[in-house]
Amino acid sequence: MKKIGVLLSGGGSNFQSIIDSVESGRLKIEIAVTISNKEDAFGITRAQNHGIPSEVIKHSDYPDREQFEERLIEALDGYNVDLVVLAGFMRVLTPLFVRHFHHRIINIHPAILPSFPGTHAQKQAFDYGVRFSGCSTHFVDEGTDTGPIILQAIVPVLPDDDEDTLGSRILTEEHRIYPESLRLWSEGRLRIEGRKVKILSSDNDNNG
Ligand code: GRF
Repeated sequence: MKKIGVLLSGGGSNFQSIIDSVESGRLKIEIAVTISNKEDAFGITRAQNHGIPSEVIKHSDYPDREQFEERLIEALDGYNVDLVVLAGFMRVLTPLFVRHFHHRIINIHPAILPSFPGTHAQKQAFDYGVRFSGCSTHFVDEGTDTGPIILQAIVPVLPDDDEDTLGSRILTEEHRIYPESLRLWSEGRLRIEGRKVKILSSDNDNNG
């Protein structure tokens, strides 16, 4: 079974959706470790509640990003992870980390990329006045939210919305497409071709 390492900084509701999919048997992967850069992240409690190994590696304990990332790499490699899953990890990753795990890092972003990359994407979309927003899963490259897109889901922006109600509608879709993206990956059905991701059909006959 393939192993993933989850990086997070906060509540970890996406992490929970992945745990739920694994425990229900829909997603056949092993969550080998969860690492937080913040010791009070509720995601760490979620890991403990489900018997998943967890570590806190605080970026503030390291003099620069590279040394922090070298420690992350050491920990993730120690668990032999096949894939790094970013689930609300609020640190920019440098080329050092991205090259080490080339095409082996997946992120979820709460907007329809390439619109509204970076932080506060839900607010960016709301303030812009779009009629629809949503979320995207993607492989991570050296840019900010620029890597090849795996899945996207759309939600409407309703007249009475504020950025929070829009954000929670988006989050519901995140919890659907993140486990689904990982399922496709775990079944070997994602093939990166340039900046596109081809989704192979389940019998691998390339009709996907
Ligand atoms: C989500 O909005 C995700 O799209 C973004 O960070 C947030 C994490 O939320 N990358 P949670 O910790 O999974 O609840």
